[in-house]
Formats: sequence, C-alpha cells, structure tokens
Amino acid sequence: MKKFYIETFGCQMNVHDSEKVISTLVNKGYSQVELPDDADLVLYNTCSIRDKAEAKVFQRLNEFKKRSKDKVVGVIGCVAQQEGEKIFDRAPHVGLVAGSASYNQLPQMLVQIEAGARRVTGLSLDTEDTFEVPFTKRDNPHKAFLTIIEGCDKSCAYCVVPMTRGPERSRASAGILEEARQLAANGYTEITLLGQNVNSYRDPSDAGLDFAMLLRRIGEVQGLKRIRFTTSHPRDFVRDIVHAIDENPVLCNHIHLPVQSGSTEILDRMRRLYTRDEYLRQIDWMKAAKRDIAITSDIIVGFPGETEADFEKTLGLLDTVQYDAVFSFKYSQRPNTPALQYTEHMSEEEKSRRLTMVQERQRQIQLPRNINYIGSVEEVLVEGYNRATQQWIGKTSQFKTLNFSHPVVPAPAEGHTLEGSYLDVRVLRAGPNSLAGEAVLS
Ligand code: SAH
Ligand code: SF4
Ligand code: F3S
Repeated sequence: MKKFYIETFGCQMNVHDSEKVISTLVNKGYSQVELPDDADLVLYNTCSIRDKAEAKVFQRLNEFKKRSKDKVVGVIGCVAQQEGEKIFDRAPHVGLVAGSASYNQLPQMLVQIEAGARRVTGLSLDTEDTFEVPFTKRDNPHKAFLTIIEGCDKSCAYCVVPMTRGPERSRASAGILEEARQLAANGYTEITLLGQNVNSYRDPSDAGLDFAMLLRRIGEVQGLKRIRFTTSHPRDFVRDIVHAIDENPVLCNHIHLPVQSGSTEILDRMRRLYTRDEYLRQIDWMKAAKRDIAITSDIIVGFPGETEADFEKTLGLLDTVQYDAVFSFKYSQRPNTPALQYTEHMSEEEKSRRLTMVQERQRQIQLPRNINYIGSVEEVLVEGYNRATQQWIGKTSQFKTLNFSHPVVPAPAEGHTLEGSYLDVRVLRAGPNSLAGEAVLS
C-alpha cells in the first residue's frame, strides 16, 4: 500500500482542505504515516499570507531535499497556486504542484504520478466546482469544519487570497445541511462554517438562502450544540446575522469581524470597502444584542502610508470597541497584490513598535474584561488536558479558554476522559488571555 505524509500550514481553510485531501487519498488506497521518511508521497499544504509563512515552506523543502529520493514531493495550497511552476525551479525535487482550487482533480493527478509522471500540476482557478469529498474524516472527534463558500471576490490591497484561492463559489445549501446532519449523526457536536468571507454566502440552488438564513437552518440540525463561523467581512455583514444569534443559543455568541485599521483613509487604501463609522455601527448592533456577544478582530499595522495619526485611530478603535481578542500583524508585502503600487514603506523597527503598542493596549483591555467573568458559571466544551498545570482545558461559547479543575475526575484515566463533554464551570480567576475555575457538579 502507498503511504503518504502531509504537513499543513496556514488557516482553518487549509487545515480542512488537508482533511479532505487525506480522505481523498485514503479512498484511493493510500495510508497516512507520521514521518516524511516513511512516506512515498510527501505533501506540504502551504500558506502564503505573509512572507514568513512562505519562507517556511521553502525552508522545509530544502531540509528534506537529500532524503527525498524515491519519493514524490508535492507542494499544494496557496504557495503552490501563487508560485506555480516556478516551484520546480526553486526546488527541483518537487513532483506535484497543485492549488486549492484544483483539488477536485487530485485523483487524476494521482493517476499521473503513479504512472511515473515527473512533474504534475493543477493550477486552474476557473473551476466551477467546490471540493466535495463523500465524507471527510476529521482530526477531532467532537469539532468539525464545514466549508460553505470557497475563494474570495474582494480585492483587499495587501492580500494574496483572491489570487491563491480563486473566485468565490458558494455551496448549495442542501449539501451543506446534509453534511451537517451527517456530522451530527457521527457524534460531532460543534461545527465551524468556513469561508474567506462567509457573509457573502449566496445559495446557488433554488432555496436561495443568504448567510443568516443558512445559519438558522443549520441551527435546527438535531444533535449539534455549537455552531461557529469564520471569517466575516464587514462589507457584507448584515444585522440579521446578529438576530439569528439572538434567536438560537446553538449559534455561538462570538463574532470575528476583522477591521484591519481604525483609520478610514487607510481602510480606503486597503480597499476594504467600509469606513470606520460603518464598522462601528456594526459593532453597535452586536452590543445591542440580547446575548453577550464576544467580538474579535484582525489588525494590520504599518500598511504603506499609515501615519502616526492613522495609527492612533487604530489604538482609539481598540478602546472604543473593547474587543475580547485581537490578532495583529505587521504588514507584509506580497506578490501580485494591489498594494505593490504603494511606495511609502515603513521600517521593520517602526512596524514592530506599532505591533507591540497594539498588543499592549489590547492586553490592558482584555484583563479587566476577563476579570468581569469571575464568579459566573460558563458552559465549556472540554477540549483537552494540560499535564503541566493539571487542569482540563475548555472553551466557552464566546470562544474564551477556560481552564479548570474537576473534583471527581482530576485527570484523564484509562478509558475515562472528559474530552468532548459539555460542563458547567465556575470562573475563579482571570488573566488577559484565559479564565480559570472549577467544574460545578450537578
Ligand atoms: N478572509 C479573511 C482572512 C484573511 S487572512 C478576512 O478577510 O478577514 C487573515 C488575516 O491575515 C487578515 O485578516 C489580515 O489581518 C492578515 N493579513 C492578510 N494579508 C496580510 C499581509 N499582506 N500582511 C499582513 N497581514 C496580512
Ligand atoms: Fe483577503 Fe480581503 Fe478576501 Fe479576506 S476579504 S481573503 S483579507 S481579499
Ligand atoms: Fe494562508 Fe491561504 Fe489560508 S494564504 S491564510 S492558507 S487562504
């Protein structure tokens, strides 16, 4: 039997793509191994979002070069799509280059590889299809990703994704709902709906659901306890999404709404298609909700032309919104992106200074917010156990990490674990990034 190894870089879409690639290979009679040295086919599912992510892939390919004789090495995902056949020049031992919009041709590509083809490529972006696999086995037995839309039709000036993942393709709602039901029947209780921009979901079938309606329908699937979604784009975020969350506790009270910058001028240069005020109006919708919705975001510092005054507006926005968590990044110049037209580049030192300031300010916001939870009881999905701290690790519906002790099951024992169960936990302590407490016995 042929053996394959796969390593995944990048976002949740890539993680889930790897799950589908694994299912495709297993359906074709391959078996997965844990070490690249044991494999006949070695795949790297790559990310190109910032230069460091891309550099890591070529570093990996280099490290593995000498040991890869008699093996087929494949580069798939976003770097594959971006660099295309140039990868063969930079790393001549590579035999397969395939972008994520071409994975539905993977079985044919495997046939070519098995027939001894030296260099196989799948780089088409004009596919009408989404990548469907009969039933994808997930890494985690409780939580599953579910793709609702692929690609991206926005053109944010800094971003490679429209190029690496191609145009937007929504999946028909019947297929999505069927997969949600299958997941529930297989014991999964949490589903994360995936897309680069889930808000622009438009059901291509006659049912014609928009994203908020789709959320409501998935929320009715028996057996599911938590539904999350990522990522939202402010341009397409409508208030009905907040209403849907208010109506059904199965829809988690957490919204990740990347803002990128607090300055309307910079948002304009980034081609984000909304202003600071429009964004803040959407935040007001969330704050006006009946449920307490946790809000998280992404920020880019040091975009070309970002003045000190623009940057101050980003810091001010953090104060205004009071986010529950923020992922912040230094702007990284990327190939084939519209931002290459800008020439005002900031030094790495200045970008680092701004990044540290964002992170420091956000830390000061998160600590008091988390302290407010002390004394409350939160339901968690138990996700693991930390041997170092001797605590169970749980996640709340708001996506906060809540570490806890359990008086009856202090640690996982043979045949007995709390993983996958939903428990009430009283919050006793808080830090900027997590909560800690003790399970409440019913
Ligand atoms: N489709 C999603 C996710 C895009 S990538 C969205 O629109 O939000 C995730 C995050 O990476 C982005 O939100 C952005 O903050 C960051 N990012 C993307 N391109 C970047 C670049 N060139 N440099 C720095 N950060 C970048
Ligand atoms: Fe990139 Fe913008 Fe599309 Fe998100 S919405 S994937 S940031 S182009
Ligand atoms: Fe990276 Fe591609 Fe995801 S560039 S962040 S793996 S869409």
